[in-house]
Amino acid sequence: MQVDTAIIGAGAAGMMCAAHAAGRILIVDHAKAPGEKIRISGGGRCNFTNLHCAPHAFLSGNPHFAKSALARYSQWDFIELVERHRIAWHEKTLGQLFCDGSAKEIIAMLRTLMQQNGVELHLQTTAHGFAKSPDGFRFTLTKDGATQEVLARTLVMATGGKSIPKMGATGLAYEVATQFGLTVTETRPALVPFTFPQKRFAGLAGVATPARVTTGAQSFEEALLFTHRGLSGPAVLQASSYWREGDEIAIDLSPTADLLRLLKTRRATAGKRNLTTELAAHLPARLVEHLAADLELSGNLADQPDRRLGEICAHLANWRLKPSGTEGYRTAEVTLGGIETDALSAKTMETKTIPGLFFIGEAVDVTGWLGGYNFQWAWSSAMAAARSL
Ligand code: FDA
Repeated sequence: MQVDTAIIGAGAAGMMCAAHAAGRILIVDHAKAPGEKIRISGGGRCNFTNLHCAPHAFLSGNPHFAKSALARYSQWDFIELVERHRIAWHEKTLGQLFCDGSAKEIIAMLRTLMQQNGVELHLQTTAHGFAKSPDGFRFTLTKDGATQEVLARTLVMATGGKSIPKMGATGLAYEVATQFGLTVTETRPALVPFTFPQKRFAGLAGVATPARVTTGAQSFEEALLFTHRGLSGPAVLQASSYWREGDEIAIDLSPTADLLRLLKTRRATAGKRNLTTELAAHLPARLVEHLAADLELSGNLADQPDRRLGEICAHLANWRLKPSGTEGYRTAEVTLGGIETDALSAKTMETKTIPGLFFIGEAVDVTGWLGGYNFQWAWSSAMAAARSL
């Protein structure tokens, strides 16, 4: 088979690219259905972009790399596309846009666009044996034991990262990059829960509270969730992308309230009230119970001098914990790191050394925050490539 462009990976980036590229397009995926991560994303409603999408919300070896693609195909462009396909959406929080109905509507939209563009979609098919030839790229497709040779003028690798191997994630893009002499930066699970020794927070599993979680110079103020094995919730997932083994994290459990002032006021008006009972009015009761032992919380509010209340509030504003690790690729929403951006044109995603070879989406060393940023990178990087094909 001879095509203009072969795209490997029918996920968010691959489908978006196939839907908009010119010429005869082949898209290949080893999964049963395209866009499986879209289907399960955002609790089945797909957080497809973010109103506040901007380069500062992306981690990369080169923080400037994503700027061009994000500017040339922005969140506003994707919102316009979604509206043109009459997909109803709403903003949940912090600029995060979700489908009103189902994530399947985004997949259906991309499938329709691919169909209209005459794209040939090959599912449950593997691609291997990639080689450069004078007229493009040659490789073999295998389906149900039958093989077929392909010659493609250009090759777009869109196989994503390593997150959730159970859903078919592989390191194929990294392997192909390495084969063609490109550098792949260290990859790590990101947007992933933290684990702690001896299931330290198991007794608090299910408790959620607003918090500011800080790692290094980066802070995120959102919900924190205690789990059987450690900590999760948006604030923790965000922090995990900046965390390294051995680092401490700092948690502010009263990010919006001036707890010290509140406690002093209550001491003046309700001094006989038990300290832990009062704290449980501001924090989840089970968490206060858990902290009571560590902080030796006892007595009534009236028993607590200013210095003691100050100590307690300082601790609650800067609870320092050292995670033992993360849940890893098993549950990570994304993979940090990937194809080194120096190897790629920021305008087209084409490799600088192998003309005709492109990398798009999560496989590239560009990782977004939680909240629709990763899909926007998939759409933007896909369009950067599609417009040059
Ligand atoms: P993606 O992973 O989407 O696609 C890669 C495709 O390549 C897959 O179809 C896979 O089967 C195929 N493939 C892999 N190896 C292959 C091989 N060897 N041969 C053939 N095919 C191969 N982001 C966001 O912005 N908002 C959200 O709401 C969420 N929610 C979310 C929930 C969960 C549970 C996860 C795991 C992730 C998210 N994300 C997210 C992240 C988002 O899903 C992710 O960043 C994009 O799907 C990346 O798009 P890509 O197309 O690059 O990879």
